[in-house]
Amino acid sequence: MSDFNELLNKKAEEAYDLIKVYIPEEEGLQKRVAEAMNYSFNSGGKRLRPLFMIESYRLFGGKDLSKIAPFMAAIEMIHTYSLIHDDLPAMDNDDYRRGRLTNHKMFDEATAILAGDGLLNYAFETVSKAMKEETDIDMLKRMVSANEVLSRKAGIYGMIGGQIVDLEMEHKKDVSLDTLLFIHKCKTAALIEASLMIGAIIAGASDEDVKKMENAGYNTGLAFQIQDDILDVTGDSAVLGKSVGSDEKNEKTTYVSLKGLKESEDEQKRLSEEAVEIVKGLSKDDPFLCDLIEYLITRNK
Ligand code: IPE
Ligand code: IPE
Ligand code: MG
Ligand code: MG
Ligand code: MG
Repeated sequence: MSDFNELLNKKAEEAYDLIKVYIPEEEGLQKRVAEAMNYSFNSGGKRLRPLFMIESYRLFGGKDLSKIAPFMAAIEMIHTYSLIHDDLPAMDNDDYRRGRLTNHKMFDEATAILAGDGLLNYAFETVSKAMKEETDIDMLKRMVSANEVLSRKAGIYGMIGGQIVDLEMEHKKDVSLDTLLFIHKCKTAALIEASLMIGAIIAGASDEDVKKMENAGYNTGLAFQIQDDILDVTGDSAVLGKSVGSDEKNEKTTYVSLKGLKESEDEQKRLSEEAVEIVKGLSKDDPFLCDLIEYLITRNK
């Protein structure tokens, strides 16, 4: 394993250790929903969004990890809920996720819907609780700002907005590049933008620097979804931990179906380089974040 891969695994493990303490206890009469929430949350995801967040926090000088951890947990809960719902028969209808049966296959559809709802709500319960306990007024203001970003980027002007257009465009032959870019920006880039922005906000970065992180997140997110589309065609489901060929099965327009593999690879490389330039332009010393962005275009899972 390369040094970078080793470092990445270590950092992802650390991020998971920080966030896993926030998940609900499996107890009470409603135990089943907590079990279903935790089943998906604890499956081995790459934890990229919490990682982006903590690295952005560190980039802007953030040191107290207890301030960023509730937001790291919240974004991973929201991301996990988006995957549970994305896999449902009414959406992409997939059977494997994160190396295991999808939530509705392991439990049942109704439970998977409620587990997704539960995770979305628990994300904001987690952040609200942290805000309620905060005594420093400046930090509290940063948290309110971060919470606004989180809710907006996960909502109808972000992830949910992208998912609805993604579904509406299924089986359509004439989806334009602009529409596809809208889908990718919203369904995928929005949560990556939020991760980088929230890290910066909680660390006390200026509005201008938060905007730069949003732009870096946009480029990274688009490149990330293009690679996801490439891997849906060329990937190995055993390595990916999820079904391949899902996009073709659902007659989705993807970057690959629209532009072909070669152009998709070139485009994601260009986007990723732009993101790295933005981060480097902040003239801070954090090679890991740049290496992470670069690594994502060559990832195989
Ligand atoms: C999958 O995201 C969904 C997309 C936005 C493409 P990830 O590839 O980050 O999934 P996990 O968290 O590692 O399972
Ligand atoms: C989904 O995109 C992005 C989400 C918001 C979940 P995909 O449908 O391509 O993600 P995968 O390939 O199932 O992970
Ligand atoms: Mg989908
Ligand atoms: Mg899917
Ligand atoms: Mg996909």
